[in-house]
Amino acid sequence: MTHPTASPWHPVAPSAGLRPGANIVAGFAEGQELALWRSADGAAQAWENRCPHRSVRFTLGQVVENRLACAYHGWQYAAGNGQCVGIPAHPAMPAPRNVCARVFGAVDAAGMVWVNLAHEGSMTTSAPQALADAVPAGWHFCRTLTLRAGAQQVREALVRHGFAAGAAPGAWRGMLGGAPTVALLLDAQPQLAFIHLWAETAPGSEAMKTLHAAARTLRGDIEPTET
Ligand code: FES
Repeated sequence: MTHPTASPWHPVAPSAGLRPGANIVAGFAEGQELALWRSADGAAQAWENRCPHRSVRFTLGQVVENRLACAYHGWQYAAGNGQCVGIPAHPAMPAPRNVCARVFGAVDAAGMVWVNLAHEGSMTTSAPQALADAVPAGWHFCRTLTLRAGAQQVREALVRHGFAAGAAPGAWRGMLGGAPTVALLLDAQPQLAFIHLWAETAPGSEAMKTLHAAARTLRGDIEPTET
């Protein structure tokens, strides 16, 4: 399901949306459904959204310190390697060593959580420099556009709007509403893409409102018109 021109690193969610030891967010990359969360020690986690015990979605569970607890039978899995480390209903029973969540590479860089599906089985500790350079320092997150369109369709629309591919994977530079803008493209599913918009423009300013309006126009230009 990987697009031939897709980058292996995907900007799946703004970093600020994952609070340490707290929430779980659903995400996608290249059709893979993800459970995104952050362990209490601050490390971003991107797991297949499926408990290895009976396949219940991890996004229904909860974060317990540096573990993810499944909602169904409560089995707990360790951040980092996804190893099952506890079955609270049977505290005397040793955790089965062969039960492991499917873990993908995840890093924080430039205010985003990036996921690499090819880095399966271990947590990535440092971000490639290109990701760190994707958004200039001091720029602000504007919004995420959800687009019912394929990633290639979105790329073509960005080119039509004067955007050019940046050095970072999935990062496009251009102008929206007269403001310099970075659009980080996420290839989520065959007909679902997201672009995370970042700009130098200050939050709450008139310029940011203009940028939001231009973003809506961009979305209208990408999605097919409903009849
Ligand atoms: S399905 Fe997750 S613990 Fe049983």
